[in-house]
Amino acid sequence: MCGIVGYIGKEEAAPILLEGLKKLEYRGYDSAGLAIYNNGKLDVIKSKGRLDTLYKLTDGGKKMEGTAGIGHTRWATHGEPSDKNSHPHVSQSGKIAVVHNGIIENYQKMKELLVNHGVKFSSDTDTEVVAQLLEYYYEGDLLEAVSKTLSRLEGSYALGIMSVDYPDRIIAARKENPLILAVGDNCNYLASDVAAVVKYTRDVIYLDDDEIAVITNDRINIYNTDMDELNKPVVHIDWNISDPEKGSYEHFMFKEIMEQPKVISDTISPRLKGNEVILNELDNVRSKIDKASQIYILGCGSAYHVGVIGKYLFEKYARIPSQAVLASEFRYSSPLVDENTLVIVISQSGETADTIAAMREAKRLGSTVIAIVNVVGSTIAKEADSVIYTWAGIEVAVATTKAYSAQLAVIHLLCLELAKNRKKMTEHEISEVVSELKLLPSKIQRIIDCREKLQYYASLYFNNDSVFFIGRNLDYAICLEGSLKLKEISYIHSEAYAAGELKHGTISLIEPGTLVVALATYEKLFDKLVSNITEVRARGADVLGFASEKMRESFEGNADSAFYIPNTHEMLTPSLAVIPLQLFSYYVALMRDCDIDKPRNLAKSVTVE
Ligand code: M6R
Repeated sequence: MCGIVGYIGKEEAAPILLEGLKKLEYRGYDSAGLAIYNNGKLDVIKSKGRLDTLYKLTDGGKKMEGTAGIGHTRWATHGEPSDKNSHPHVSQSGKIAVVHNGIIENYQKMKELLVNHGVKFSSDTDTEVVAQLLEYYYEGDLLEAVSKTLSRLEGSYALGIMSVDYPDRIIAARKENPLILAVGDNCNYLASDVAAVVKYTRDVIYLDDDEIAVITNDRINIYNTDMDELNKPVVHIDWNISDPEKGSYEHFMFKEIMEQPKVISDTISPRLKGNEVILNELDNVRSKIDKASQIYILGCGSAYHVGVIGKYLFEKYARIPSQAVLASEFRYSSPLVDENTLVIVISQSGETADTIAAMREAKRLGSTVIAIVNVVGSTIAKEADSVIYTWAGIEVAVATTKAYSAQLAVIHLLCLELAKNRKKMTEHEISEVVSELKLLPSKIQRIIDCREKLQYYASLYFNNDSVFFIGRNLDYAICLEGSLKLKEISYIHSEAYAAGELKHGTISLIEPGTLVVALATYEKLFDKLVSNITEVRARGADVLGFASEKMRESFEGNADSAFYIPNTHEMLTPSLAVIPLQLFSYYVALMRDCDIDKPRNLAKSVTVE
């Protein structure tokens, strides 16, 4: 997945494109490049490395003259991150330049065809075939060449295309990858995300699949695949999309951890009336929810981990058969979902390709889809039957923290709603949970205030090269997230295990000095978890334990190091238990001098399957 941006107007294009790319770096950051039309030729500067490198190479864009251009920030799929594999890619003659987000699945076949016609390739990417095919089909009409080229491509794409023969235009095309066009004053833009252009304009056109746009400085014409012109609405973005700043914080991740009390409050408060949960967002799907006989929760990475908690909670409190399924697996697993299945998709970005594909499959099979999404107007938000937004604000760090917590808060609300409708919890029971829900922000703050202890534990363990997270039931679900957080930002190998499962094989990996992070917040299974801790300690493991305050007395002495979490209703424990794990991972990564906000090989939004 990558970010693309384009500008055509009267201003110098390069600084505007660089500014746009800065806002798209969350989509990938292993290389970046620009192509600018300048006096009958396309100037291309591109380079491996962060956008900063491109910024320096172009002197903030000053070294590139011209008022029309396209730019790209990359997350490598085909071909290692390198100068030659960076976008834009140009055709053999240098006359056509292309930026691309997506994957051309039949690129090998297309490459063979072109090589047989004598075309010489200069990169290992799938994207280069697009530039070469365009030139191959070009017979004086660029739009016709675009149309022919697109008809040969299999896979997904958001494309920005320029040609020296048409200096007054940029062509854009989309299939299964986000692309917006934006209307400026004597200028127009294209971008993977509104964030890239919002500094200049809030009037945007959402390009849909299989549409092609011709963008000049004063017009945007949009066509379908038959080349019929379409009349698409200009949408004014009125939601707040202010740029997040790090302020005095060293990292966005830390800042976002600190924001969690507010984020939880912003997400739950508008949905509570007294001690009642009010989810107006569900009004249009209420009858479908009432007759649902099962729930599937779909997501990737941390969003999937929230789904695992949802599964435990919906089954326990609302008594509805539920399962959490990785979105990337759902689509190809012949899922038994139908019109009586409620599907909940969870996604911070709303643009994760696997989650979008799973959602579409669920809809195709007749299910009703509720989406829990952070980014307003994203693909998932637009296509789901109903959306519950998490009011986490823009999350910049690749490792999610505040969006995860906000998703979890929505799961709690949904659980209460379902339990109420199915009469599985009394009003009194619900009101007890809601009272505790309202206290979550202050309890999270209490944990954050004890962060020095976690920093100390990080200093004890940051040199470990293998860590196991163990827990049972909800604690196991939290372990999944704790383990992912640690590995993605600190590059320490770590695994989450259901504590009872360890003895079925994995315990052979425990040796003196192995760190085992044990979660013991689930009161009913506390004794069993303590037995599992004893087993690993008997084999020499160092145990860092997390337990609820009310278990302090019984837990003391059972772990080498311990951290206590404020008491709360059992349903809500995950919302508290995850916070110290986020902070522990953060401090470990800090001590290992890792690039915390932009870990290697990752991107914030994973828009390829
Ligand atoms: O935008 P999404 O919530 O759909 O993203 C899903 C995952 O890619 C994401 O949660 C990922 O696992 C995070 N980097 C974890 O911190």
